[in-house]
Amino acid sequence: MTFPLIAPSLLAADFANLQRDVEMINRSDADWLHIDIMDGVFVPNISYGFPVLEAVKKYTEKPLDVHLMIVQPERYIEQFARAGAASITVHYEACTHLHRTLAQIKEAGCQAGVALNMQTPVTVLEDVLDMIDLVLIMTINPGFGGQKLIPMSVPKVRKMRRLLEETGQTTILIEVDGGVTLDNAGMLAEAGANVMVAGTSVFAAKDPHEAIRQLKVHPQP
Ligand code: DX5
Ligand code: ZN
Repeated sequence: MTFPLIAPSLLAADFANLQRDVEMINRSDADWLHIDIMDGVFVPNISYGFPVLEAVKKYTEKPLDVHLMIVQPERYIEQFARAGAASITVHYEACTHLHRTLAQIKEAGCQAGVALNMQTPVTVLEDVLDMIDLVLIMTINPGFGGQKLIPMSVPKVRKMRRLLEETGQTTILIEVDGGVTLDNAGMLAEAGANVMVAGTSVFAAKDPHEAIRQLKVHPQP
């Protein structure tokens, strides 16, 4: 496994040609396939649900990295695990009992992730770090693909990296999500990110395989 890991976001795929796009990702150097689940309540958009996820699972050879932008995600953890999620990331802001929800994810046999919205400081994770496999730092306000990275998220990635180093939790992955491009991937890797979600910059590229290779050349922090 070479870092950074690249997780193309299915949200930017052609939904009328999902099998084609999933198989295109299979043949690429991508590490994971990122799956954005939106409920129209936690974020102002609705993406797709279990039938689509199950169809994608049939064709993908990449681990499914499921990002839940839904309220009360604890209601659906087992179902996402059964549908084939390798990792399940819940939003800190959507979980009243984050500790319990993380335990539920682990019990379901998945890697556990926590996502932080723009305004949520990294320190809220201090007491649950030993239950987490990955932290997802939102680099946009979630809800839509194709947005521009918000610059204040870069120092936040650095703060997260520092917290992991200070607490000796350096096996936890730092994933960045939203507006990741070839132009800012180097800066994000330098700040400490080691998983890059990329929707538009992969699927809208003339050569998506080459875009994935280019995103990967940035050195591991
Ligand atoms: C947005 C999603 C992202 C999105 C990224 O709420 O969480 O994963 O698909 O898309 P791009 O890379 O186009 O910003
Ligand atoms: Zn996402």
